[in-house]
Amino acid sequence: MARGSWATRTGFILAAAGSAVGLGNIWGFPTRVGQGGGAAFVVVYLACIALICLPIMLGEIAIGRRSQLSPVRSFALLRPGTRWWLAGALGVLAGGGILSFYSVIAGWTVAYAWFSLTGSLAAEEQAAGEFFAAFTSNGAASVGLALLVLAATAAVLLGGVRGGIERVTKAMMPVLVVLLLLLAGRAATLPGAAEGLAYYLRPDLSRLLDASVFNAALGQAFFSLSLGMGTMLTYGSYLSRSTGIASAALGVVALDTAIALLAGFIIFPAGFSIAGFDPGTSGPGLIFAVLPQLFATLPGGGVFGTAFFVLLAIAALTSAISLMEVPVAHAIDTWGWSRPRAVLAVTCGVFLLAIPCALGNGAVPLLSSVPGVGMDFLTLMATAWNDFALPIGGFLTAVFVGWAWRVDRALEELMRDRAWFPAPGAWSFLIRWLCPAAIGVIIVWTFASFL
Ligand code: TRP
Repeated sequence: MARGSWATRTGFILAAAGSAVGLGNIWGFPTRVGQGGGAAFVVVYLACIALICLPIMLGEIAIGRRSQLSPVRSFALLRPGTRWWLAGALGVLAGGGILSFYSVIAGWTVAYAWFSLTGSLAAEEQAAGEFFAAFTSNGAASVGLALLVLAATAAVLLGGVRGGIERVTKAMMPVLVVLLLLLAGRAATLPGAAEGLAYYLRPDLSRLLDASVFNAALGQAFFSLSLGMGTMLTYGSYLSRSTGIASAALGVVALDTAIALLAGFIIFPAGFSIAGFDPGTSGPGLIFAVLPQLFATLPGGGVFGTAFFVLLAIAALTSAISLMEVPVAHAIDTWGWSRPRAVLAVTCGVFLLAIPCALGNGAVPLLSSVPGVGMDFLTLMATAWNDFALPIGGFLTAVFVGWAWRVDRALEELMRDRAWFPAPGAWSFLIRWLCPAAIGVIIVWTFASFL
């Protein structure tokens, strides 16, 4: 059977950006900024993007485009007879693991779109937070919504690369950006907005060298750019040989970063306009508690709210698609399964893992009694995959490209047909030295602080 491919260069950029832009930008980024102490986190985040993540993204896409295969077989093809295929296998597992909690949160955005439409969202200061807590404590609803998200994801994947993924991810990005700009404009004019902007933009210099900030920023950067688990590798494997990789990757990174920053320009001014707001303690409920109150200040806020949560759900869907495509492509390439069979099997497996995520802490008393794991199952999954698996995957990718497959071969792929590639020397240095060293330090630090 012929392998799928993108119809156009723009199709690839939008699909990859659709993968990157998702809950990580609009839900995860402001949450982590809040936990990481504001602007210092933003500075470290941007440094991670430019110096670590962009080089790795180029490497991942180059591996995929060269091999035209999914992660496990890519690594095996480029370094036959070694154990490098295990790096691909980690990514395949991570895809399912991340999707298990991602589908739960995506389900919440679907519910919030419905609540906004029907006007049942509580918008009073206290009530919005309590509404979110009450809603998420209804485990059955969360399970049902996660199933809905997974079913929608599976339906798109059944359509394949061009007819499914590319077609669906194409139209929504401009609409999302326009809506975000409108909301940021409104948030900036709220009373208290200045305090929120200061929190977001004026870094506390003493935290710039804080290892925990670096750790959280790097994990967030990997997550937001869909790196470290073979998503970009797999999407790169559907890319035509005549497309320049560097310019496409730069477009994806710029779009993803701009949208994350924009989300902060909405949440923090809006949040600080609420009395007694503490960005550090809101956790996963941050956007669900703050945004309804912002919508309530707008004329026709219900329409805004509905549009916002619908777009967020779509952004989450295009990311979920890319998460599911990695194990699906693996089953097709490696085990020779048909696409429908692979999609069905992965959907069922992920749903089984999503159930404990949706049910929350109460359902997994075992885990909350383990010392150091006193967190609910969703947080446990998010921590295990984001803070451990993605940096490890990124580390392995950098070492693979820099030392095992080797930069000269990677550069051959990156500069094929004299494609634009501005600084091969700088890129080689970053991928061989800075990326492994910086990520290595973070991985050791993360393990040490966890134990
Ligand atoms: N990047 C997406 C977001 O920000 C989530 C995502 C999709 C992802 N594919 C991934 C994260 C692969 C890590 C790895 O919401």
